[in-house]
Amino acid sequence: MRTALLAALVSLPLAAAPAAARGLPRLLAPAETGVVRAPQVLLVYTVPAGEQTFVRTNGKRLDRKGVSVPGDREDLFHLQLPLEEGRNRFEVVRAVDEKVRLAFTVTYVPPYSLRTPVAPGDRPYAFHTREREAGCSGCHNLPETYETVPDRPLAPAGKVCGACHPGIEKAPNLHGPTAVYACFMCHDPEYRSARFTIAASQPAGCGRCHEDFLARILGSRKFVHGPVAAGGCLVCHDPHGGKTTAVLREAPPKLCLLCHADTLPLPVEKGLHGSVPCTQCHNPHGGDTQILTAKAGNAFCAGCHPDVADEGRGHPVAGHPVEAEVDPSRPGRPLGCVSCHAPHGVSDVSRARILENEQTQTRFCRKCHY
Ligand code: HEC
Ligand code: HEC
Ligand code: HEC
Ligand code: HEC
Ligand code: HEC
Ligand code: HEC
Ligand code: HEC
Ligand code: HEC
Ligand code: HEC
Ligand code: HEC
Repeated sequence: MRTALLAALVSLPLAAAPAAARGLPRLLAPAETGVVRAPQVLLVYTVPAGEQTFVRTNGKRLDRKGVSVPGDREDLFHLQLPLEEGRNRFEVVRAVDEKVRLAFTVTYVPPYSLRTPVAPGDRPYAFHTREREAGCSGCHNLPETYETVPDRPLAPAGKVCGACHPGIEKAPNLHGPTAVYACFMCHDPEYRSARFTIAASQPAGCGRCHEDFLARILGSRKFVHGPVAAGGCLVCHDPHGGKTTAVLREAPPKLCLLCHADTLPLPVEKGLHGSVPCTQCHNPHGGDTQILTAKAGNAFCAGCHPDVADEGRGHPVAGHPVEAEVDPSRPGRPLGCVSCHAPHGVSDVSRARILENEQTQTRFCRKCHY
């Protein structure tokens, strides 16, 4: 072993020897081509002692302060890298001559993306392998086994994980098991190449504790919402804790607009249906109508506007039907409340009554009465 090392040193050209003695640049984290689900990743690297470096992304210098640890042979740097959706190319550059010392690509696939990664060679980045952890354990407390809480074998004692994952227990609204620090209920503490992997995939993983709920949404609904059908609980829910109730990543409407921005043609905050939240009309998991509402057609609107829907009344003018087999303005669809009203509001928000983009009453009536 020693002789092999000596032989390697001896065979180096003379000029390179001092650099080798001072250590070569090393990437300790992340992986060179890793796929991550969080919007930032920790970069840890070393360079020969005294060497000044900076980090460049897509040709631009990153202005961020990290933690640096100077050493005799090599200096170590920690830096949180912000990620944009998709591929992020980073370079560690030597300041003096702009020589690229380390380069790597991190692909950020947000949890709300239903796409699978991404390019050949990319794979999910698992940090907690023995090899990678070894790069930190000299300086950090990263024991092979964590103490667990007496009587609660699935919970690590103390906030050991928070030293490197400070965000997790800080959400305003913590998820039940995270609130009691029962991380190992979901993260397997055994190394199976990596440790802290997720023991079961969703929705089965959620079903271990929410069995009744899953049976209710998946078992008995005629229509299941797209991302739920794809098993995407984490698209909307943060397993650790959310910004709002129901451990949601974002509160609706922002949550819904992650995927439905193009269906809703206007700035939601201006013209939406009164102040009725999306989820009061649509069930985010599934429903008995295609649009995930509790009831179909006029009966749905009547739930909140009973007097208007009353047949006898005539609406909007005396004797006018609100229900008929044919809607002259929408071939193939029946006449109903949504023939005249846009349930999401209209872009011409100066006009109340959420009528479909019609400026004048005559033009409005002429939609159907030529
Ligand atoms: C040479 C010793 C050393 C090595 C090796 C090392 N660190 Fe550190 N790390 C430190 C020191 C010192 C700090 C600063 C601690 C403080 O300020 O309290 C630190 C801070 C951190 C922080 C907090 C950073 C912040 O922005 O506040 C994280 C997270 C971290 N290290 C993770 C790692 C990981 C992961 C590895 C292995 C890939 C690693 N470190 C390797 C010494 C080291
Ligand atoms: C010394 C720092 C450190 C400590 C302590 C630590 N982690 Fe990590 N962990 C990391 C780094 C670095 C990553 C890579 C992701 C990143 O850069 O944010 C990571 C990633 C993860 C991941 C994502 C999957 C993976 O392997 O990349 C999980 C899950 C995780 N940690 C769970 C835990 C749990 C649970 C604990 C406590 C029992 C813990 N970690 C303690 C540094 C640490
Ligand atoms: C209810 C199950 C559950 C519990 C409890 C839980 N996690 Fe997680 N955790 C997950 C899932 C699922 C993911 C994968 C998230 C994704 O893909 O979006 C994850 C991802 C992570 C990650 C990597 C992504 C990130 O946000 O940085 C870390 C770190 C992590 N968990 C740490 C912890 C710690 C520490 C605890 C305890 C305080 C904990 N987890 C408790 C289910 C859980
Ligand atoms: C280890 C058990 C466990 C697992 C696994 C689990 N949960 Fe929970 N969940 C709980 C507990 C406990 C509560 C709190 C229940 C209560 O307060 O009534 C909770 C509450 C919730 C709530 C309601 C929170 C609120 O503020 O109203 C949601 C939403 C939720 N979980 C979603 C999920 C999703 C999505 C998954 C899968 C990623 C999951 N859970 C996995 C135990 C679990
Ligand atoms: C499209 C976004 C979305 C997806 C995907 C999603 N949820 Fe939800 N979930 C919500 C919203 C929004 C709420 C709050 C409901 C409300 O405000 O009426 C909620 C509430 C919940 C609740 C607590 C409320 C209750 O009715 O008991 C649980 C538990 C839950 N979801 C579990 C899950 C599970 C398990 C999955 C995956 C099978 C999942 N969710 C997928 C958006 C979603
Ligand atoms: C991760 C992306 C995503 C998010 C977030 C999301 N949806 Fe969806 N939604 C879909 C997909 C995919 C479909 C299925 C579309 C299809 O079949 O054409 C769908 C279908 C629907 C439908 C039925 C439309 C139809 O024509 O069948 C409604 C209504 C709906 N979503 C409302 C919501 C609401 C309300 C929210 C927020 C609570 C939300 N969605 C959040 C992806 C999403
Ligand atoms: C007052 C009840 C109500 C509210 C609030 C509401 N919707 Fe709708 N939504 C409907 C009705 C009714 C339809 C069906 C319209 C039709 O048949 O023409 C619909 C249709 C949809 C569709 C299917 C595509 C389309 O436009 O036909 C999506 C997606 C959708 N809504 C998402 C949302 C989102 C996201 C929000 C919150 C920003 C929201 N809705 C708020 C009642 C509502
Ligand atoms: C969950 C209850 C709810 C449902 C379901 C609902 N609405 Fe509304 N609607 C409201 C509320 C609340 C307002 C605001 C009332 C106000 O400003 O006085 C409103 C306002 C309206 C207005 C404007 C009234 C005005 O005075 O300017 C119209 C038109 C309307 N809704 C039609 C509909 C139609 C059509 C449907 C079915 C597609 C429907 N609503 C479904 C609750 C609902
Ligand atoms: C033929 C077109 C048409 C149909 C169908 C229609 N509306 Fe209207 N609606 C209007 C017009 C026009 C107005 C404005 C009347 C006014 O300003 O005097 C209006 C006003 C309203 C208002 C606010 C004023 C009020 O009368 O309370 C509500 C609420 C409403 N409609 C709900 C509904 C519901 C619910 C349905 C289905 C049961 C429906 N509309 C069907 C054209 C229609
Ligand atoms: C979305 C299409 C639509 C719009 C817009 C519309 N109507 Fe109608 N209207 C109908 C239908 C369908 C009938 C029933 C026709 C039939 O029975 O032949 C009808 C019938 C009528 C009738 C005859 C009622 C009766 O006693 O038989 C009158 C009057 C009328 N509409 C006036 C109006 C006026 C005024 C407006 C504008 C405020 C208007 N309509 C807007 C579809 C519409």
